[in-house]
Amino acid sequence: MSQAANILIACTGSVAAIKLPVLVSKLRESGRDLNIRIVVTKHAEHFFSTEDIPANVAHIYRDEDEWTSWKGRGDPVLHIELGKWADIMVIAPLDANSLAKIAQGLCDNLLLCTVRAWDFSKPLFFCPAMNTRMWEHPITAGQIETLRSWGLREIPCVAKTLMCGDTGLGAMAEVDTIVSEVLRWLTDANLRESLKF
Ligand SMILES: Cc1cc2nc3c(=O)[nH]c(=O)nc-3n(C[C@H](O)[C@H](O)[C@H](O)COP(=O)(O)O)c2cc1C
Repeated sequence: MSQAANILIACTGSVAAIKLPVLVSKLRESGRDLNIRIVVTKHAEHFFSTEDIPANVAHIYRDEDEWTSWKGRGDPVLHIELGKWADIMVIAPLDANSLAKIAQGLCDNLLLCTVRAWDFSKPLFFCPAMNTRMWEHPITAGQIETLRSWGLREIPCVAKTLMCGDTGLGAMAEVDTIVSEVLRWLTDANLRESLKF
């Protein structure tokens, strides 16, 4: 894909959302022509300052926008429009709560509606991030597998000392890993083809 690509970053309420500004900067510095938009859950906003992501860098969409932008019949529906706009979506981080909801088809916020209405001919990457205890809960593996079985691409979590001080699996993949996965998809036509159903 040589023309500008539209990337939608979906950010949920894991402490790894702290890295959202760095992820945005690294994507912008990657040398690729990228248009970036961000959709967040309410809890994600606890972990970063919107001042670190100026509006001219990437617009941030919140639940309220879904309702203020729709006044009546014929108006665009934001979660559908975001999905149409995006060439690629990356859920980074994907916390345990939103993972469970996606696996069950729930869609009670803007981010989840966008995921639920996703066009599966386009790639959707997800980057799980949770405490090791949550990661090791027996429900997690099945939920990850459900998403993978739909063709969504996991960028696996890594083991390290987590921000809470515990050590183990569950940390979000490194930002550099996420950026290189996105760039790999943008530059590799065969990979893009293989991601289609
Ligand atoms: C300080 C703090 C850090 C958290 N970090 C994580 C995390 O890394 N992963 C996770 O799954 N949940 C984490 N949570 C819990 C989620 O924020 C919580 O489940 C929330 O309901 C997620 O909502 P959302 O999926 O709509 O963003 C954390 C909560 C707090 C208070």
